[in-house]
Amino acid sequence: MKILVTGTAGFIGFHLAKRLLERGEEVIGVDDLNDYYSVKLKKDRNEILQKNPNYKFHKIDVADYEKLKEVFSDDIDCVVNLAAQAGVRYSLKNPHVYEKSNNKGFLNILELCKKFEIKNIVYASSSSVYGESTEIPFKEDQKLDKPISLYAATKKSNELIAYTYHHLYNLNLIGLRFFTVYGEWGRPDMALYKFVKNIVKGKPIDVYNNGDMKRDFTYISDIIDGVVAAIDNPMEYEVINLGRGEPQDLMYFIKCIEKALGKKAMKNMMGMQPGDVPLTYADTTKAEKLLDYNPKISIEEGVKRFVEWFKQYYKVN
Ligand SMILES: NC(=O)c1ccc[n+]([C@@H]2O[C@H](COP(=O)([O-])OP(=O)(O)OC[C@H]3O[C@@H](n4cnc5c(N)ncnc54)[C@H](O)[C@@H]3O)[C@@H](O)[C@H]2O)c1
Repeated sequence: MKILVTGTAGFIGFHLAKRLLERGEEVIGVDDLNDYYSVKLKKDRNEILQKNPNYKFHKIDVADYEKLKEVFSDDIDCVVNLAAQAGVRYSLKNPHVYEKSNNKGFLNILELCKKFEIKNIVYASSSSVYGESTEIPFKEDQKLDKPISLYAATKKSNELIAYTYHHLYNLNLIGLRFFTVYGEWGRPDMALYKFVKNIVKGKPIDVYNNGDMKRDFTYISDIIDGVVAAIDNPMEYEVINLGRGEPQDLMYFIKCIEKALGKKAMKNMMGMQPGDVPLTYADTTKAEKLLDYNPKISIEEGVKRFVEWFKQYYKVN
């Protein structure tokens, strides 16, 4: 297969491209390598992919329609859109980049798929679309029209526009609602990375909502299993949760990190952050049924693997 993946220098895109290349697929990678977080980390991921001759990389902003058009061709079997401005908190600081990358970028992808008659599209949505829903576990058929951050609003709008393009142009669109993905090569703006970095340096960690939070942390290889299954099983229009289905207390998560590092954290207890939610909890029944999804990696094992990677990458003893 020839698969175009956007966001391949990013955390999830890197792991997806790596898995697809290992399976022998041809991957066209697109990323603008922006400096939202360490460009070195993005380049290091991308260099690993570039060792494989079946990987062709293009440094392009998905919001640039004309440039993006150049990498499209009618022999592409599937497009996976993972490029986006991620992060809930940053969407309060820099709203315009969310409009550009998440809304305009996604519309460009859909328009080009239509133009080049590429029928199968998989795209990243997010657990953040559930906002402050108290109907737990979160099921895909909940009515969701109250996003509490601009990030969540752009992801929900992707799902709506995806439906429109399915309806009008018969494109097959699967939206995957990822739940707090973590693992090796993870994102520096996310809790696991920030906590490990600060604990290693002997600095305090910021614990939001005084630690009274639960997250459905999902290990990267489980997420990639789900994304690959979505590529392999085109569906007309679906939105599917990819989580672990086992929300963990933030304080237990910190304990796992302390155990893996063999070092105690100094905690700076803080209030709730605007746009943030106290709980995420995926109902994974639909993913199990449609994608044969079966998350395997426990939080203890996943955190241990991340810590091992972090120590090796940053040469920490
Ligand atoms: N990691 C998670 O827990 C999580 C949870 C829910 C949803 N998601 C979604 O999954 C996708 C991948 O997330 P990630 O964690 O790998 O984030 P990431 O930031 O590591 O990866 C996104 C990549 O897209 C690139 N990018 C951003 N804007 C771009 C643009 N305009 N043009 C081209 N490239 C652009 C970035 O440079 C980055 O390398 C995103 O859509 C994100 O919103 C992630």
